[in-house]
Amino acid sequence: MTALITISDDKVFALTNRAFSYVMRRAQSGILEHVYYGPPLGSPLEIDTGRRNVERGCTVDYEGRPAVNLNETLQEFPCYGTSDYRYPAFHARSASGHSVFQFRYKSHRVTSDKPEIDGLPSARGGASETLIITLEDPYQNIEAQLSYTIYEAHGVLAKSVKVINKSAAAITLQNIFSSTLDLPAHDYTLLHLQGTWSREFNAERLDAAKGRFVIDSARGTSSAAHSPFLAALEKGASEHHGRVYATSLVYSGNFAMSAETSEFDDVRILAGLNPFDFEWHLNPGDSFSAPEALHVFSANGLGAMSHIWHDFVREKISPPHFKNAPRPSYLNSWESCYFDVDENKVLALADKANDIGVQMVVLDDGWFEGRKDATTSLGDWTADTIRFPSGIAALAAKIKSKGLKFGLWFEPEMVSPESALFKAHPDWALHVPERTASLGRNQLTLDLSRPEVCDYIFEKMDAILSCGDIDYVKWDMNRAMTEIGSAGRSDGRDGQNIAHHYMLGLYSVLSRLTAQYPHIIIENCASGGNRFDLGMLCYAAQNWTSDMCDPVGRLDIIHGASYVFPPDVMAAYIGPSPNHQNGRVSSLKTRYAAGAFCAAQGLSLSAVDLDADFDALRQYISLANACAKDRMGGRFDRVLKTQNETAWQLTTADKSKVSLAYFQILSAPNLPVRIVRLAGLDPQGVYRLRDDGASYRGDALMQAGFAMPYSLLGHPRSGVRYRDSGDFASHIFVFEKVSGS
Ligand code: DGJ
Repeated sequence: MTALITISDDKVFALTNRAFSYVMRRAQSGILEHVYYGPPLGSPLEIDTGRRNVERGCTVDYEGRPAVNLNETLQEFPCYGTSDYRYPAFHARSASGHSVFQFRYKSHRVTSDKPEIDGLPSARGGASETLIITLEDPYQNIEAQLSYTIYEAHGVLAKSVKVINKSAAAITLQNIFSSTLDLPAHDYTLLHLQGTWSREFNAERLDAAKGRFVIDSARGTSSAAHSPFLAALEKGASEHHGRVYATSLVYSGNFAMSAETSEFDDVRILAGLNPFDFEWHLNPGDSFSAPEALHVFSANGLGAMSHIWHDFVREKISPPHFKNAPRPSYLNSWESCYFDVDENKVLALADKANDIGVQMVVLDDGWFEGRKDATTSLGDWTADTIRFPSGIAALAAKIKSKGLKFGLWFEPEMVSPESALFKAHPDWALHVPERTASLGRNQLTLDLSRPEVCDYIFEKMDAILSCGDIDYVKWDMNRAMTEIGSAGRSDGRDGQNIAHHYMLGLYSVLSRLTAQYPHIIIENCASGGNRFDLGMLCYAAQNWTSDMCDPVGRLDIIHGASYVFPPDVMAAYIGPSPNHQNGRVSSLKTRYAAGAFCAAQGLSLSAVDLDADFDALRQYISLANACAKDRMGGRFDRVLKTQNETAWQLTTADKSKVSLAYFQILSAPNLPVRIVRLAGLDPQGVYRLRDDGASYRGDALMQAGFAMPYSLLGHPRSGVRYRDSGDFASHIFVFEKVSGS
C-alpha cells in the first residue's frame, strides 16, 4: 500500500488517495489550519498554504500576530474567545469561570491501525492509515487529539476528537464537535434529509445563506426529523456533476450539524454531539471521546457520492458477518394481525408463508404476557402463557421444523407503566422525580445510562435468544425521550449528560448481544426510520426503512435514504391495500416494485389477503428469493426524479444484470415519452432486455437512453413500450449483459 499520509518537515499534513486530498498545516501561530479538501493532488505538500492570510483593517490579530485573523482562517479545531466569532468546534468553561480556549499543535503520529473510540461505534479500519494530531491549550493544559483516517479504497475521511484534561482543575465541556470542515468562499447549496414518522428522508435543498443553518436532534434518537446528514454542493451540482462535500455521523442520539456562512462567504460545517442540553464535567486526568464523523468528497455529483457511501457502509460499517449474504424473505405478523397474535395463528401463517415460498416468519409486537394492545407489558419479555402456551422457544422450534427461519420483535429500551418491571423498578425509567413523566405510545423509556438496566435488558433477551432457534431480531424503539433524568446518578450536575450516557449504554448492550449472537440478523427500527443512522448500522445488518408501506409513499423515502444508505441495508415488505397509513389503493405489482431493490423483502398481509393473492404473491416471493443475491453489493443509481416519476437502476456486483424500476404516480393523457439514461454500463457491452429479447449497446443506453413505457388510455397495445393505464403504475425492466468486457 502506498503511503496515504505524507507530512513535510514544516508540518504540512496531506491525506491523499484516489478519491481526494485533504491538506492541513501547522501555522506559525501553532494553530492547525485547514488548507484543502478536493480532488486528489499529485504533490499535495507543495500546495500554497499561506494564500489566505490577508490583512484587513476591521479584524483582530490573534495574540498580536499581524494578519492572523482567526475569523477567516480555515481551521481544524476552532474555539471561541480569541477572535474567531463563528460557531466553534470546542467550547468549555474553565474552573475559574471563563470560556476562552485555543489549541495549538503539539505532536502527531501515524498508525496503520484505526483506533476504536471509547464506548462508541465507529467505522472499521483496514487498508487505512490514521493520523492523530495532538493539540494543546498551553494555558489550560487541555489536550485534544484529532484523528483522521484515510482508506486506500474508499473516498471517505473519518474524523474524531478526544479531549484530555491534563490540568489539576476540572473543566466543563459545553460543546465538542467531532469535525470541522472549513470550506473556502464559494456559492454552496446545502442538501439535507428531513421528515417525520412515515415520511422520512425527504431530500431538501437550500442556498447557503449568511448565518447558520442547523439540523439537530434533542429527542434522544437521531430521529426522522433530520437524518444526521448534511452536504454542501457546488451550486448546480446534480446526480452526475458538481463537487459535493457530504458529512454524516456514526451516532444515534442527540446530534447537531450546521453550515455557517461567514461574512467572507467561507462555509463552516460542524458535525457532532448537540451542544444543546449538553455538559460534561472533565475532572483532572479524565478524557472525553466524541462520536465519529465521516466525510465524503465527490467531484462528480450526488450519484458518485452515494456510491462512495454505499461501498463504505457495506465494507466498514455493516456487521461483517452478513456482508453480501442474501437476506431471507419474511412474513411479518404486524400488518397481518397487529396485537392479535397467538401460537395457532402464527403457525397457520407459517404454513401459508411456506406455501408462498417465504423463508422466515417474524413474530412482531404482541407476543408477551398481557400485551393485547399498546398500553402494557413492555419490559417484561416473558411469553404470554395463554396465547403462547408452549413458549417462544417451542414456537421457534416448531417453525424451524417447517423449514422456515424465525424472527422475533423486541422493544428493549422501553417499559410500560403497566408492567411487572415498572412495578419492581419505577426508578429504572428516565424521569425527573418532581415532575409527571410524559408518555409516548403509553410507554416510558428505560434509563440505559444505568449499567444495571443494561444488564437487565441483556439478560432478558439472552434468556430468549439462547434457545438457539432465533435467526432475526427486530429491535424497535417507538418514542422520543422526555424528562431525561436519571435516578442512577447521584451527582445532580451530571443531569445534562444522561442522553449521551444513554447512548453509551445502548451501544454496550448491542455490543454484548451481537458478540454473543453474531449470526442473528438485527433489523433496526424506530417506528420505521426514526433512528436509521450509521451508529445503529454498526450492529444492525438491516433497517426497517419506514412504516410507510404504500409504494407511492415509499418512493421518496427510499430515494432520500439512498443518498447515504445502500439498498443492502434496507428492508421493505408488501403491505395491505388500502394502505393502513394513507389509505391508498395500489396494485400488488407496484407494491412489490417499490421495495424490489431493498435487500430484505417480504410480506405483511392478513391470512385473507394471502389467500386472495396467493398465486401472484408466490410469483413475487419467488422473484424476490431468486434475486436476493443480486441485491447485495450492487450499484444503485437514481436515474430519474420528477414530481410524478421516479426511476432507479440496480446493477449487480458482477455487472451481469441491470434492473431498472420505473414509477409514474399519476396518470394523465398525452404525457411526454420519458427517456432515462442508464448509468455505469460497459459502453461496448451488449445488454438484452428480458421483456422482448431486444439488444442494446451500453453506450447507447447511457448516452441516448431508454424510453419508459407509455400509457395509451383507451387504446391498449401490447409490448414493452406500453403499459397499463391508471395511477401508481410501475415497471421493472431487466437487462442481461450478453457480451462485453
Ligand atoms: C413500530 C414498527 O415500526 C412497526 O413495524 C411495528 O413493529 C410496531 N412498532 C409494533 O408495535
